[in-house]
Amino acid sequence: MCGIVGYIGKETNPQIGLEALKRLEYRGYDSAGMAVFNFEKKQIYCLKCVGRISNLEDKLSNSAIFGTPFIMHTRWATTGRVNEVNAHPHSDCKGNIWVVHNGIIENYQELKEELIKEGHRFVSETDTEVLSHLIEKYFKGNLEEAVRKALKEVKGTYALVIISREDPYKIVAASLSSPLLIGINGKEYLIASDPAAIVSYTKKIINLEDNEIATITPEKFFIFKEKVPQEIELEVEDIQKEGYSHFMLKEIMEQPRSLKHSQQGRILLEEGLAKLGGLEDVKDKLKEIKRLIIVACGTAYHAGLVGEYMLEEYAGIPVEVDFGSEFRYRKPILDENTALLAISQSGETADTIAALREAKRKGILTLGIVNVVGSTVSRETDAGVYNHAGPEIGVASTKAFTSQLEVLALLTLFLGRQREMSLVMGQRIAKEILKIPELVEKVLQTRSEVKKIAEKYKDAKNFLFIGRKYNYPIALEGALKLKEISYIHAEGYGAGEMKHGPLALIDKNFPTIAILTSDSVYKKTLSNAEEIKTREGPIIAIATEGNDEIKNITEDVIYIPKTLEMLTPILSVIPLQLFSYYMGVLKGYDVDKPRNLAKSVTVE
Ligand code: AGP
Ligand code: GLU
Repeated sequence: MCGIVGYIGKETNPQIGLEALKRLEYRGYDSAGMAVFNFEKKQIYCLKCVGRISNLEDKLSNSAIFGTPFIMHTRWATTGRVNEVNAHPHSDCKGNIWVVHNGIIENYQELKEELIKEGHRFVSETDTEVLSHLIEKYFKGNLEEAVRKALKEVKGTYALVIISREDPYKIVAASLSSPLLIGINGKEYLIASDPAAIVSYTKKIINLEDNEIATITPEKFFIFKEKVPQEIELEVEDIQKEGYSHFMLKEIMEQPRSLKHSQQGRILLEEGLAKLGGLEDVKDKLKEIKRLIIVACGTAYHAGLVGEYMLEEYAGIPVEVDFGSEFRYRKPILDENTALLAISQSGETADTIAALREAKRKGILTLGIVNVVGSTVSRETDAGVYNHAGPEIGVASTKAFTSQLEVLALLTLFLGRQREMSLVMGQRIAKEILKIPELVEKVLQTRSEVKKIAEKYKDAKNFLFIGRKYNYPIALEGALKLKEISYIHAEGYGAGEMKHGPLALIDKNFPTIAILTSDSVYKKTLSNAEEIKTREGPIIAIATEGNDEIKNITEDVIYIPKTLEMLTPILSVIPLQLFSYYMGVLKGYDVDKPRNLAKSVTVE
């Protein structure tokens, strides 16, 4: 879960690399570093710092280091504390070979012990440092040769970019279960862990595949296999804040647009059908599916839980939802009529990928709902649906989540109409999905009310979120967002579960956010809210427009428009996203990059 950038070409000012690296800060931001080869001095200079890339930028401006090639890194520590020594790049004993790494070397302890016995001196606590010493061990003048030999001994995952003072006019890059790409513009090469880093520089990229090692010189690059460049589907504006103070707010506010993109061209209103091109090839197999297992992590997992309600109610397919991290170690009982659906914004979440691979090993049909085009999940599933929500930069998932819900609704329509769902019901769902972007626009108008509520409760130490049925996962999601962004302790509960324990927590200082939309479980949820009110717990309600009685039991109400019950989560989650955003801002936290987290969790 790190960001990597490498550059080789005529430019000798590493600043251009820093611009690219900043676009990767979402992948990790506890420390940063770079190594630069200076031709005149025939030396590699290294700069490192704890904290954000801006600190590295300050160091660079005070040190006048120039040269090419150079490699850079922004870290999210897995092995070894967050400090300057553990920041990447890491070098061999003589400062000849420099490595930046994303991933985990699982057998690093054994390798380290052996290398120490052979006389290598280690300075950091990281797993990464064994790579530089191992490459040193095999280095006989040709860097890629040494890398190839070293990697044979390594177990784990990696994206690696390496330079050497003794074989200086090249970058060697390698990848295994961790994305890495080479950007090409005819004059120079930029290597990065994500297209967002290089989109303002080129749109032509080569993705490195597992076990591939690339050698890149100023004139050309060489990989073992010949590959054709692809076009990135990304515009520079997509990865800018467009006047918003944070990406998170921009991404919350652009949901009408992202939801429109997610449904565009996918609804056949007259026929009451969903047209999902990515599922065409497996259409017949999908008719036979009798059970679906959804695997995902974090927010995507909550989307999966909503999907469970939708698919069971309208498509009649039994659904199980599991965390990627749990599924991978279970003994799942699967048969030929079971399919697995992986949901992931990034398509690079290690636990989700591991669950997917386990399902493939068992030979069942695998599907994906993925936002990042060309990501590992999208490549490794048999079929799937892209979200088309645009790049999500804020660590907190917002627009990707609502898009996942919308795509799950489309999938429900698709699978439902293959089964017993009537034309009329299909048309009804299709019509309501079409209205969603407009309804979301209305919910966003509650922004200033939500802000006031956040101001009122900013000193609360705990929060409870409750909901039932379709909105139970939204209670979980509201709590996750608040924890993640404002570091306030929060729990999400099925409202009916309150009386089985958590009600004991309630007093006048313990606020609850209750999702009380007018749906099939409204009366039941209302009774649960009343039980909280009776214990003096303040309640903030998310309710359906026109419900005035709710004001009698709640302190504050945010109204959302009416829609089909299965689609209410797309609307009800938005005030909760805004609430956690404002709480985080009021507390002065960096909401786009909450502490201890990273956007893509590419390690186990
Ligand atoms: C959401 O706000 C979180 N940052 C996190 O839970 C995220 O949803 C999770 O890590 C899964 O990521 P993915 O969708 O890219 O697989
Ligand atoms: N394992 C390396 C470290 O801890 C890289 C971490 C990562 O990819 O998140 O420094």
